[in-house]
Amino acid sequence: MTVREIQDEIIRLKQAQDICLLAHSYQSREIVEVADITGDSFQLSLAAKEAKQKTVVMCGVKFMAETVKILSPEKRVILAHPEAGCPMAEQMDKDLISGIKAKYPHHTIVAYINTTAGLKTICDVCVTSSSAVHIIKKIPNDNILFLPDRNLGAYVAAKLPDKSIHLLPGGCPIHAAVAAYDVHKARAAHPGALLLVHPECTPEVTALADFTGSTSAIMDYAVNSQHSEFIIGTEISIAWHLQYRCPGKRFYYLSKEMICPNMRITTLIDLLDCVKGIGGLEIDLDENTIKQARVCIDKMIELGAP
Ligand code: 13P
Ligand code: SF4
Repeated sequence: MTVREIQDEIIRLKQAQDICLLAHSYQSREIVEVADITGDSFQLSLAAKEAKQKTVVMCGVKFMAETVKILSPEKRVILAHPEAGCPMAEQMDKDLISGIKAKYPHHTIVAYINTTAGLKTICDVCVTSSSAVHIIKKIPNDNILFLPDRNLGAYVAAKLPDKSIHLLPGGCPIHAAVAAYDVHKARAAHPGALLLVHPECTPEVTALADFTGSTSAIMDYAVNSQHSEFIIGTEISIAWHLQYRCPGKRFYYLSKEMICPNMRITTLIDLLDCVKGIGGLEIDLDENTIKQARVCIDKMIELGAP
């Protein structure tokens, strides 16, 4: 089968079987083209809440599929590739954080959405990269324990100096590996380009950027900018998608090492198997986990509204 034929079959089957296809912005071109909704983690959370279909297939990583299940427990939720996990989400578990939490009894526990459902059950509020500053600003308590991404937490702390934000040593191995050296190299190769980076990058990298934002914010910035050249400091798929959307502009990688194997693992054939009902991993969470983890996700949606 050609790519086009597989895509047509996926579209036919998802409509026939009342399936909503969600894809994170880091997914491949072939997948993004057949998805009902593509976006950053916050946009996917909202879409998950509003989806009318009985089944949701998530092309992304496991915590994203868990978020869909928590928001819509009555739906069948399938992670398109069973092994697509986020290493950052696995860095801290409920037992570890319960112990740390006891030492910070007066802090509000803010969890990046890149956490397991189990860990979310003991957190107060969730945030995503696009909503973190906005949400933490609205939290009445100035004492915040932020987990697990130290870089995103540092980015928020710099934007909100009145808050006392305690950070833990976690982070995204893909974004955290990029250094100032990569910025100098990319800027030397493309002197006219603007540098757009994700806040999961280190403070030394975000300090050198022209713009810092979530995957969708980076895309919107590049699409709407009068500029014609950009260095993209996040997973390299974003540069590809932007090149399709803006053929007259040029997009370069901050580092060709910025490839997330977990986001790349899902193929169009995996997706075809899911809509045929023979692939993926069905997300199964117990009632208590759903009930308790939902508290911090609902709080995120409530505080995340403009
Ligand atoms: P956003 O989609 O919130 O920009 O996050 C990027 C990411 O790394 C998701 O795993
Ligand atoms: Fe996790 Fe980083 Fe991959 Fe996003 S890019 S899924 S944070 S490892």
